[in-house]
Amino acid sequence: MNDNLPKASSPPRTALELPANDPGYFYDPMVTAGTHGEIRLSPRVEAHCRCGGAPPYQVFESPHSEPTWCVCRSYRTHIRQVNRLISQSGIPERFRYHFLDQFQESHKGTEIPGAARLKEHLRPLIYRCTEAKRNHKAIDTNSPARGFLLWGEPGNGKTMFCCGALNELIFHSGQAGRFIGLSRKFFQTLRHTFDQDSPIHGQAIPIMETLSTVPFLVIDDLGVQRDTEWEVEMLYNLVDARYAEQRLTFVTTNKSIDEIKGLAGGRIYSRFLEMCHLIHVQAPDYREYSKIEYEI
Ligand SMILES: Nc1ncnc2c1ncn2[C@@H]1O[C@H](COP(=O)(O)OP(=O)(O)OP(=O)(O)O)[C@@H](O)[C@H]1O
Ligand SMILES: [Mg+2]
Ligand SMILES: [Zn+2]
Repeated sequence: MNDNLPKASSPPRTALELPANDPGYFYDPMVTAGTHGEIRLSPRVEAHCRCGGAPPYQVFESPHSEPTWCVCRSYRTHIRQVNRLISQSGIPERFRYHFLDQFQESHKGTEIPGAARLKEHLRPLIYRCTEAKRNHKAIDTNSPARGFLLWGEPGNGKTMFCCGALNELIFHSGQAGRFIGLSRKFFQTLRHTFDQDSPIHGQAIPIMETLSTVPFLVIDDLGVQRDTEWEVEMLYNLVDARYAEQRLTFVTTNKSIDEIKGLAGGRIYSRFLEMCHLIHVQAPDYREYSKIEYEI
């Protein structure tokens, strides 16, 4: 153990006054390596950092003085935490570190219907979750924060938007979020937990516990599950647990609201009514823009 480490309560070397719109870090979309940019210290914090950026972020005023925490420490700690949470979130690679800025409101001068309004709806929610966290308070349970249930045709940005919301919420609040895609391996993974030879044998309860309690959850592609009694029951249990604890949940689906009503005898839909804003996304299929067609 390093006895030279400052006590956790040691004040930073100098209190750093940051402008209201500067949390001390920002996302730099410039890609230096890999597929996305990186979260960096804001220039003001960077300018005052004296520790060289190496953990445990401490500074010695003189060779014989006690160390103190560098001003950058809480910001660097937040950045590390956010990077860890994003890598554990299950957000698909293509949408990792995708923030609201990347969700376009128009394409080649033509407005994308509803895109700007979706973003407007989300901003107060991000602010609310961030402030609650900053003030060490739970979100006011008399008026629980509502997520979004986005339904509509394929390709109009539902998954991208929810991933953007999840990245933003994790980035600003430093709290955990998870993404599960019902079209992909979700139920398959759960089923494997009952397989004696599986490395995740016996993990169903901890997996469901994590998904039930994580502060932010995206359930992508509701409605593509096979609707076996077991799958619907698992889904109902998850939604009900999150409903009971008023946890923020985002849902995407290609099904219509009438079709969702049919799930689990209406018990899932009924909970969504209180948990989410139900939003019909009517933008056109964005994938059409990337179409390459040949006639040969
Ligand atoms: N507003 C937008 N700005 C930028 N890219 C967008 C936007 N909307 C959609 N896209 C792009 O279009 C593609 C399809 O988006 P996405 O996967 O979010 O659609 P979806 O509504 O979830 O489709 P599906 O219902 O088939 O799952 C993605 O490559 C996404 O990046
Ligand atoms: Mg999708
Ligand atoms: Zn420093």
